[in-house]
Amino acid sequence: HIHGSYTEDSNFFGDSTPFELVRRHGSPLYVYNENVLRARCRELKELVDYEKFHVNFSAKSNSNPELLKIVRSEGLRVDAMSPGEITMDEMAGYAGEEIFFICNNVSAQELRFAADHKVRVSVDSLSQLELYGQVNPGGRIAIRINPGVGAGHCKKVVTGGKETKFGISPADKDKVLAICERYDLTLIGINQHIGSLFMEGSAYLQAAETMLSICEDFGELEFIDFGGGFGVPYKKLEGQGRLNLRELGQGLSELIRNWTDKMGYRPEIMVEPGRYITAECGVLIGEVHAVKYNAETCYAGTDLGFNVLARPMMYDSHHDIELYRRGDEPFDAPHPVTVVGNICESGDIIAKGRELPTPKERDIMVVLDAGAYGHVMSSNYNLRLRPAEVLIESGNTPRLIRRRDNLEDLLAPYRVAV
Ligand code: LLP
Repeated sequence: HIHGSYTEDSNFFGDSTPFELVRRHGSPLYVYNENVLRARCRELKELVDYEKFHVNFSAKSNSNPELLKIVRSEGLRVDAMSPGEITMDEMAGYAGEEIFFICNNVSAQELRFAADHKVRVSVDSLSQLELYGQVNPGGRIAIRINPGVGAGHCKKVVTGGKETKFGISPADKDKVLAICERYDLTLIGINQHIGSLFMEGSAYLQAAETMLSICEDFGELEFIDFGGGFGVPYKKLEGQGRLNLRELGQGLSELIRNWTDKMGYRPEIMVEPGRYITAECGVLIGEVHAVKYNAETCYAGTDLGFNVLARPMMYDSHHDIELYRRGDEPFDAPHPVTVVGNICESGDIIAKGRELPTPKERDIMVVLDAGAYGHVMSSNYNLRLRPAEVLIESGNTPRLIRRRDNLEDLLAPYRVAV
């Protein structure tokens, strides 16, 4: 039996089932579907009608190298936040110039690492621009500006406007140019990112327009990057609609056409979505271990703690949940069920008062849209093991693409010489 029809209707598990996958790879388990990943890449590549349009996949949303390889095979470039992400991008086959290091408050060593790996770099303060000049005089550099507008699903992920640590103010233009001159730096691009998860494109378009007018002051640039933030419908089971990409793409194409006509040159134009590409290609499978009532509340106790999926605890995020049951035993009528994990904190709640049939021990829960900011934000809190990851390939076969942590992985860093 299945409560919730998305994974079945979309043939998400291919020839397999969540029961088989758990039997083989254990629980909890992240499962990705290659077809969905490729479809999202292709939609975004078509977003803008402009010959120098590029999509940089924001790999912080999911940096599994097997997914990165697929994204790369679709012709997308990639952005990185750290030497670790640069290394993973390289492991997936990306070359330096295809990687855009958008860093924030990094050390001289990290900037050196980026320069040595020949990746494009963007800094987001005058202070870091100065440091880059010292580390790599004569180098090429981009700056992240703050366009003054922000958007996002909660305050913690809004990255433009007055209340954020990100970006250089356009008013500091002369200081930027002076530092570039002092260190003989070539300013190659300007980027921005206003925040994560918009379902309606107007703030993004407005920010893009603002940014293009700011870019007019900076001389001829190699590229302009409007950032990511493209949202996905997390309330699918309630019929939530999708972001209208066509409308947004038309708006962007028109802005770019007018701007390039006016300026008389054609820089690369980039966007850097993460969530849109990976959220929907991933689900998180867990098992129900205990069912109980406390006062009036029905609790489903699972292995899906916030060590495995942090978003509900961290941002109060909603993830749809499907319930799979072995055998013939029917479901009762849905009623509020609070789905919790196995971590020793009361806030360890993945879904509060969710309408579900009463779960039963050994039922399986499938948490939808968990491909972005899922595994990458998992931790070993309570000394739990981070989950394995499996890819349902286009031929419908499941392949292990990250093994589960084992106890030795937990202990290894502590085996230091005394
Ligand atoms: N570019 C930059 C500079 C970013 O900081 C981010 C995300 C992106 C692109 C990609 O944003 P996306 O297209 O995925 O919205 N952990 C949070 C989201 C944090 C986003 C951080 N920056 C969550 O789970 O909702």
